[in-house]
Amino acid sequence: NVTKEFIVGIPKAELHVHLEGTLEPELKLELAKKNGIDIGQKTIEEVRQSYEFDSLTSFLGVYYPAMEVLQKEEDFYLLAMDYLKKAKDNNVKYAELFFDPQAHTSRGVPFADVINGYYRAAKDGVALGVESHLIMCFLRDMSQESAIETYEQMLPYGDKIIGIGLDSDERKNPPKKFADVFARAKEDGFNITMHCDIDQENSIEHIRQALLEIGVQRIDHGTNILEDAKLVEYAKENGIGFTCCPVSNSFVTEDMKGKEILELLHKGLKVTVNSDDPAYFQSYISDDMYVLATKYNLEKKDIIQLAKNSFEIAWIPAEKKNEYI
Ligand code: ADE
Ligand code: ZN
Repeated sequence: NVTKEFIVGIPKAELHVHLEGTLEPELKLELAKKNGIDIGQKTIEEVRQSYEFDSLTSFLGVYYPAMEVLQKEEDFYLLAMDYLKKAKDNNVKYAELFFDPQAHTSRGVPFADVINGYYRAAKDGVALGVESHLIMCFLRDMSQESAIETYEQMLPYGDKIIGIGLDSDERKNPPKKFADVFARAKEDGFNITMHCDIDQENSIEHIRQALLEIGVQRIDHGTNILEDAKLVEYAKENGIGFTCCPVSNSFVTEDMKGKEILELLHKGLKVTVNSDDPAYFQSYISDDMYVLATKYNLEKKDIIQLAKNSFEIAWIPAEKKNEYI
């Protein structure tokens, strides 16, 4: 049997965590006070109680308004630093961190403050023993024009970004809505990933578009690929990475999709386990792995495979991977 100590102890990479999803109630209250914002909650319990949701849409309805407390460069720094300390406790050696600039620039926060705060934390995280890089996501419920504007705001900071992603509400927002901006990002040499969340409307069609029309290297979530054996074969042949998040799944669908995660893993696909929005789901990466391990009787070799996959599909230069695997 796999113990929590074994899971925590194994060196791992985290590839699917949203920095805005690491906002713990303590920091939310601290930043609200610092910035003089009335968030309507005064205690940690009150903040926790506001974290109530049973679908992706209702989760996002809580998630975006909470970001109001993030105002200054330093706030983004503190948020990312808090996560990196948790990452260290989980023996995460390497992390790729999603962030949503449009959720901040749409409130009047300068793009520069968001990226400079996060990037400064990523640099300081190295002293903790955690290497990390930023993945900028477009909000898919905003327009492609807004994504292009965001892409152009990012370009002067291009060396601070390791890849581009796509997140937020999937309904009526298929990957191909963003075909032009992702084609440009690929041409400019950025790595590409996209959310294809669990059991969303047209999930398998979104996965098909992401793989065959956009040409992503990874899919975030993506276990619905099992609905199409040909796409599973394609993903296997092309070493496509899957960043699965069991506890997040159990919040938005009441099913952690453990059976599907393991089926893909045992078929030899590059599956990983990650936390997604750990402050909201109260589960950091080792907790996610442990819940999956206990509920589905994982063996040590499965945990080792998950950890190995996490470094394999990480966007680390090949020669540096040897340091980790
Ligand atoms: N933003 C933060 N978490 C997300 C998720 N699980 N799906 C889509 N967008 C998100
Ligand atoms: Zn996510």
